[in-house]
Amino acid sequence: MSAPGPVRILMVCLGNICRSPSAEAVLRHRVAAAGLGDRVLIDSAGTHAGHAGQPPDPRSIAHAARRGYDLAGLRARRVASGDFATFDRILAMDRDNLDHLLTVCPSNLQSRVGLLMDYAPAGSPPVVPDPYYGGGNGFERVLDLIELACGGLVEDLLTQGRAVGGPARRNEARYNRVNHSG
Ligand code: 4NP
Repeated sequence: MSAPGPVRILMVCLGNICRSPSAEAVLRHRVAAAGLGDRVLIDSAGTHAGHAGQPPDPRSIAHAARRGYDLAGLRARRVASGDFATFDRILAMDRDNLDHLLTVCPSNLQSRVGLLMDYAPAGSPPVVPDPYYGGGNGFERVLDLIELACGGLVEDLLTQGRAVGGPARRNEARYNRVNHSG
């Protein structure tokens, strides 16, 4: 029997120049450190095409580089209709991105779509806020949140192996936990 194929993860924000390329680079770093480099494929995209073809925002490149993440070779692209069938987990940075994805995702693939922050520890902020019109603090905050969620995501990949439809199942488990403890 052949080994299962890699888990494919797509990070999504609005422009694909700040948050999702940062998430792509952080997750790639964490996955390699966990020894899963050949079992997880990672990409990123934006819900809008305004920056398609461009490198990440220089502020994102600089803040990420200080933490050892390399964004320089990445180029923005818009989410494509085929992405929903290609990727096992399609993880939005905020609720606007999530709503957009759910609007265009075929109904039979919607369980693949979720929020990146659903992988962060309980009690974490629910979304990664848009840093584009703010200062350096916002870019640091983006990295803090992404690192938090990617830690949980790697843990999930290590414990569940190839769990297609991860976000929906994980949300369910988390809500159940909250309900039981309340
Ligand atoms: P991102 O940030 O969605 O994290 O890539 C933004 C990039 C560009 C714009 C807004 C947010 N923009 O308005 O051009």
